[in-house]
Amino acid sequence: MSQNSLLEVNELYVNYGKLAVLFDISLKINTSEVVFLVGRNGAGKTTLFRTIAGFLEPREGEVTFKGDVISGMGAYKIARKGVKYIHQDKSVFGDLTIKENLELSSYATGDYDWEPVFAMFPKLKILLDRKAGKLSGGEKQMLLMGMAIIGKPDLVMMDEPTEGLAPHVIQDLAVSFKEISKTTTLFIVEQNLPIIADIADRVYCMREGKIIVEEGCREDIQDLCFEKHL
Ligand SMILES: Nc1ncnc2c1ncn2[C@@H]1O[C@H](COP(=O)(O)OP(=O)(O)OP(=O)(O)O)[C@@H](O)[C@H]1O
Ligand SMILES: [Mg+2]
Repeated sequence: MSQNSLLEVNELYVNYGKLAVLFDISLKINTSEVVFLVGRNGAGKTTLFRTIAGFLEPREGEVTFKGDVISGMGAYKIARKGVKYIHQDKSVFGDLTIKENLELSSYATGDYDWEPVFAMFPKLKILLDRKAGKLSGGEKQMLLMGMAIIGKPDLVMMDEPTEGLAPHVIQDLAVSFKEISKTTTLFIVEQNLPIIADIADRVYCMREGKIIVEEGCREDIQDLCFEKHL
């Protein structure tokens, strides 16, 4: 493990039953980086995130976090170790209020200090008693990000956080990503190229279950040099 490496994925292969979906994936996320994962629909981005977060088990290979092997550990234990994963489908407990959703995250991590969450997302404080199922897409994403940062995780993984949201909401979320990245390492699946150009330290491109390109030069990222691989 190199000195500031937080997460490492080594020669990972993942199947759904007999269907092989990920092939020989290796990557590394260093502490305090903002890393994006891009690729066309069906490339395997969500499958990779679900495997890292412990919802799927690899057929071969392993995932390490802070030097410990986490693959096969189960999603709950991986979350307790400091990896928070915000799913692509923006699922919250719709019948519960924002307050109750935040309480569930606090219960899971033992962290009941919500001030950092409200400082980042003041709107959540105003909407505390609203049922989460009634929130707009952008508000739901704020709640999910708020729930993710409770417990001060080392790594937050977000799967297409801006998908389906209006441009002005996306702009607000981009500001939040920058703010969260000051204290938390971020690994994000994203299709919005301006956001990536603005804040990525590195970009991995996936195609047909493999990592085909790693781009780590800020100038090339700003010029969207990786776009030709999408
Ligand atoms: N539960 C599942 N069972 C079987 N095959 C699946 C399952 N989930 C995904 N797949 C298949 O695995 C491949 C990768 O899907 P995945 O959802 O990881 O892609 P993705 O890159 O996240 O796509 P998108 O950009 O559309 O979210 C696809 O061919 C998909 O059809
Ligand atoms: Mg996906």
